Amino acid sequence: MSTDRVSVHGGWASRWVFILAATGSAVGLGSIWKFPYMVGVYGGGAFVLVFLACIALIGLPVMLAETLIGRRARQSPANALKALALEAGHSAKWSWGAFAGMITALLILSFYSVVGGWSLDYIIDMGRGDFQGVTADQVGAYFSAVTADPWRLTLWHTLFMLLSALVIAKGVVAGLERSLRIMMPLLFVMLLVLLGYSMTTGHFMQGLHFMFDFSLDRLLDGLLPAMGHAFFSLSVGVGSIMVYGAYMPKHSSLAGTVMGVALLDTFVSLVAGMALFPIVFAAGLNPSEGPGLMFISLPFAFGNVAFGQLMGVVFFVLVAIAAWSSAISLLEPMVAYLVERTKIRRGWVTFWLAFSCWFVGLGTVFSFNVWQQAKFFVNEGDAFHLYRWGAAGGLDFFGVIDFFTSRIMLPLGGLCFVVFAGWVMGREAVRDELSLRSPLLFTLALFLMRYVAPVGILVVFAAQLWK
Ligand code: PHE
Repeated sequence: MSTDRVSVHGGWASRWVFILAATGSAVGLGSIWKFPYMVGVYGGGAFVLVFLACIALIGLPVMLAETLIGRRARQSPANALKALALEAGHSAKWSWGAFAGMITALLILSFYSVVGGWSLDYIIDMGRGDFQGVTADQVGAYFSAVTADPWRLTLWHTLFMLLSALVIAKGVVAGLERSLRIMMPLLFVMLLVLLGYSMTTGHFMQGLHFMFDFSLDRLLDGLLPAMGHAFFSLSVGVGSIMVYGAYMPKHSSLAGTVMGVALLDTFVSLVAGMALFPIVFAAGLNPSEGPGLMFISLPFAFGNVAFGQLMGVVFFVLVAIAAWSSAISLLEPMVAYLVERTKIRRGWVTFWLAFSCWFVGLGTVFSFNVWQQAKFFVNEGDAFHLYRWGAAGGLDFFGVIDFFTSRIMLPLGGLCFVVFAGWVMGREAVRDELSLRSPLLFTLALFLMRYVAPVGILVVFAAQLWK
């Protein structure tokens, strides 16, 4: 069995760089922007609890599966599944699952870039001093004014997409390391500073209660959204972590590395939530505000403390960088695939894919203004009975894309990868790739991939359908 493949796209210099890149992919808007607002919308503690359980029991095994498939095949996701399936005497059609994942990644990128654009916009606004001494109402109105302007959103969305495409065009391995080495640790520090500030608001305990108190009867409310977000947050289910795994050095411990990345990502989400909610309560804002939550609460905080203007700029720069390093990992799987399959140069492939994502992203831009009234799946009688899946009241364009990617496609993609690693690749190949010293740990890893994660995903889907 061949284990000495080489990636045509280059490789990370060390295990460290993989950790940096994978953390860069995982930590992003998902942790800082999306997690807090989902906690708010789905009512706090119950959501957090289900999210953490999904990370541990489903997200982690899927992440392990993805990295081990990637590293063994050293190719883009679709080609990786094809090569390994054939090697193990199975059908090459497994690659379709990975292909669907790569398309999902592009759909996510379409709205991700719009929100990444908001953080670029806020760097300038902060720097200009727009938030000095603002009231809570004023920051809310500010956010509404920003999102009401399609030209403004389009401008920043375009810039964000260009910045991401630039690195991809050069090749991920070369571009990422230098920028992430300093920025990622700085982001952690900034979040801790923010957390420190939250402790002084007088509402810190209220924030903690909101995030960690739960009643059992609310556990089912946010089940599917929490599972979907666990995938989103860890960057698994679409092949992003798989393609990074393909560039990973051969002799480094997979399980330990993956665990480290997942812990860091979860830590950032929790700290972001713990920092945000006290500010939300202190300002009298509504925790179930939705996608604007971070862009309203944080400027309010920065606008009302000493050195807030400078700290605000630094913070939004870091958020933009975190978003940018995630966006790169959303584009890379399909770029790598097309580079492997066609004779087209990386630069051109990147350009056309980024352009397509940008174009679809315009739909998200318009969801916040000119298409605000356009709602899909409004009635109970709609084709997919989406109301059952938590879409009561209809979804706008952004809502539709977010819904299908996070709640349907990511878990299905994860299911495909984890079943592939658990059942298709073959026990020996998995054992060889994981090279865990303890047989007990290997059995545990295989058990998680074979049974716990797939059954978990199916149970969550079933619970959502029949609740
Ligand atoms: N994990 C990233 C975030 O939390 C988003 C992402 C999802 C990146 C899927 C790659 C793949 O911001």
